[in-house]
Amino acid sequence: MRPGDLVTRKQAGRPILILTAWDALSAALVEEAGAEVVLVGDSLAMVVLGHATTLPVTLAEMIGHTQAVARGLRRPVGQQPLLICDLPFLSYQCGSDQAVAAAGRVLKESGAAAVKLEGGEPETVAVVDRLVRSGIPVMGHLGLTPQSVHQLGYRRQARDPISQERLRRQALDLEAAGCFALVLEHVPDDLAGSLRRQLTIPVIGIGAGDDCDGQVRVTADLLGLTPSQPPFSPPLLAGRELCVDALRGWLQATAQPWPARAADGLPTRPAAPAAPHC
Ligand code: KIV
Repeated sequence: MRPGDLVTRKQAGRPILILTAWDALSAALVEEAGAEVVLVGDSLAMVVLGHATTLPVTLAEMIGHTQAVARGLRRPVGQQPLLICDLPFLSYQCGSDQAVAAAGRVLKESGAAAVKLEGGEPETVAVVDRLVRSGIPVMGHLGLTPQSVHQLGYRRQARDPISQERLRRQALDLEAAGCFALVLEHVPDDLAGSLRRQLTIPVIGIGAGDDCDGQVRVTADLLGLTPSQPPFSPPLLAGRELCVDALRGWLQATAQPWPARAADGLPTRPAAPAAPHC
């Protein structure tokens, strides 16, 4: 799967489903489950690195995690999922040269074939244009953009007609600059649906309703591994409880004190009951 294939998928009406991964283990899980597109999202800053926001994760960390994800993908070359890596905060906001250097490192060093970045202001659109003209495929991301959390918070975006019109303009600008797809996060369903019809490139939703060309989810949220999940991404299973219960069971069963004392005075593990003869 190449970035350009996603437009063909949209035209064919086949949903584009994207799961995140952050290391070799999670990569193997989503690949075995059948994911065709894998995103190393900067949500890993919160999900696996323990930060309060996505802002602190560095370019080097994103590259390191993407390398681990690439190592975890085991399908033969040519059949592997499309691997996309988020450009972290401040790796592309200081201008096009800095963005090309950062995204170039991602493609050269990590195994990813494309990058994703947030925002649609003219400066960001100019960065996208430069990246695309440098041969670097770019996925856009509008709506709730967590790198702007200190301005926008985590609430639903584009709730009034003026901000909806601004988001529509930004989406069109990102498409014109060459984005191969656009993530819309936590925006009204009807806005996502109408943009899906207006844009040629696929609209990939998260918290944007079902009327999108595809969906993206943070895998740890779907598995219920994160302490809490956003309202628009309910868990499929209580993964955290399942893991904690299993580990607690093993710890409790294995932690029984050894009452017996050997001649040297040291505690001694009691003899296991004899195995039944088959
Ligand atoms: O960082 C991330 O995981 C993302 C998805 C929520 C789209 O950007």
